[in-house]
Amino acid sequence: MRPVGFRVGAAAAAVCLCTAMAGMAFAAGYESHEKMGIPEDVDPIHETYLPVMIEDDFETMMDKDIKDKSKFMERQQTLLERRYDLSDRPSDVMMSGGEKPVQKGVRVKLPEGVSFEQLAEMSPDEVRQKELFPEGFLPLPHAKHETGGQVIPENHIKKIEELEQRNLERFDVEFDLPEHFQPEFPPPIFLTTRPDLGDVSQGKLLSIKNYYDIMHGILTPVQMEGLRLLLTPFPQQQFNQTEDRKVEEPSLGISCLDCHANGHTNAAFHLNPDTRPHIARLRLDTVSLRGMFNQQIHGSKRSLRSVEDLTEFEQRTAYFDGDQVTAAKKGVHLPDRTSQVALMAQMQNLFDFPPAPKLDVFGRLDPEKATEQELKGEEVFFNKGRCAECHPAPFYTDDKMHDLKSARFFEPHMSNGKWITAVGPIKSFTLRGIKDSPPYMHDGRLPTLEDTVEFFNLVTGVNLTKEEKEALTAFLLCL
Ligand code: HEC
Ligand code: HEC
Repeated sequence: MRPVGFRVGAAAAAVCLCTAMAGMAFAAGYESHEKMGIPEDVDPIHETYLPVMIEDDFETMMDKDIKDKSKFMERQQTLLERRYDLSDRPSDVMMSGGEKPVQKGVRVKLPEGVSFEQLAEMSPDEVRQKELFPEGFLPLPHAKHETGGQVIPENHIKKIEELEQRNLERFDVEFDLPEHFQPEFPPPIFLTTRPDLGDVSQGKLLSIKNYYDIMHGILTPVQMEGLRLLLTPFPQQQFNQTEDRKVEEPSLGISCLDCHANGHTNAAFHLNPDTRPHIARLRLDTVSLRGMFNQQIHGSKRSLRSVEDLTEFEQRTAYFDGDQVTAAKKGVHLPDRTSQVALMAQMQNLFDFPPAPKLDVFGRLDPEKATEQELKGEEVFFNKGRCAECHPAPFYTDDKMHDLKSARFFEPHMSNGKWITAVGPIKSFTLRGIKDSPPYMHDGRLPTLEDTVEFFNLVTGVNLTKEEKEALTAFLLCL
């Protein structure tokens, strides 16, 4: 075997930008492209390991990254505009905090001259051969897929700067989706222990500076300590103190709630730690921690069996791209299972779903409160649409991973530095409180709930009518 990690590692920092931007062939001399399932002329960037040694000094890297940033952001903007209607079209339904409207309408653009109804009538082979699968239904690349890593939205960066004087702004890349497709910020907090209180956030973003005041008298000492740890920054691949970082000043790192803002999500994204080579990795949109208490598997691919396991391993591995070697260099935090992890997990298990006033104790619509269209949508969800087979009430997840096999509809190809190919099984996320957490799917490829209805209609072949699709969306908004 070749010492792949070292060789690719040293070359990667220098090679990846120019190949990506100029489309130069990758002169690797490896025979392993076929094994990795990627074309000969494509740079895998990292095969298994990431570089431990960085070739250039920090200043040189930073200057180059700053210079390249606009090219990458323009490339991503072009992709997003090609895929989606990005306009601001609020509906009259508000997210649970009552501050931000849910966006409406199908936003995934169709190929010229074809409708969703026509697509649904074709076989997957026909869609693939005629290249008619809407681009917005494909896996979404990271805004700078070549580097990847955690990217925090602007609103959260500003707030943390104000509250903690901690800078979460990367110099090489920035958040790419418009604010109207992001969750409410800061999101409300509902606790399983005190449903009578409603939202306990006071409209504030929890931070290490204010959490104690906000939660005093509401949490136990154990939960309070768990929350402190969830708000304490620890080193991460791009946010750390070494020369291999993507923030200007050496950084204390990132906290759990820098992405899971207020126990929900702010739509921060990164690349999954589970897939190799690097170009095949999946973009991951931060999931909400609401309702985690009832879920049996965690992570879209990792399928860890407890919140404790995910908590323990998130900082150790996911923060470092699933690579324990670079983690050791950058100061990984190894939380103690009994005195830290257990407390952090207990706190996470308190974050409740937002209230759903139209649902009864079985998680089904109360006919007294629901409209005719919503009831019709429920009927479609549980019967013709077959949604409930993977998203059963009352929690609207079956705690399983399913392979939606969307790769039947397209040929594998490169797009913005990402190898677009089969994704494989993914956790069926819960749909409770779903209107609060755009964008949708593990990678955030779908901006609205209407898009998810079109996606599942096509991919599962259930052939819903326009009326049924509209009713289904109305039902999803009740969850
Ligand atoms: C990028 C910002 C980010 C940070 C920081 C972060 N997470 Fe996550 N978290 C994610 C993403 C993205 C996922 C989805 C992972 C996946 O799909 O495999 C996730 C998944 C989870 C899940 C499982 C959710 C599910 O649906 O199965 C838990 C629990 C969790 N994180 C807890 C934590 C804890 C605890 C920390 C701090 C140690 C943390 N996270 C830090 C982004 C983040
Ligand atoms: C075969 C199982 C299966 C069926 C049937 C199914 N889903 Fe899903 N659903 C999943 C999986 C798996 C995911 C995660 C996919 C991903 O992220 O790539 C998901 C994700 C979603 C999401 C996005 C969740 C999020 O947090 O971003 C929505 C919304 C959704 N499904 C709605 C529906 C609707 C509506 C139907 C019926 C028309 C349906 N699903 C049918 C398995 C299923």
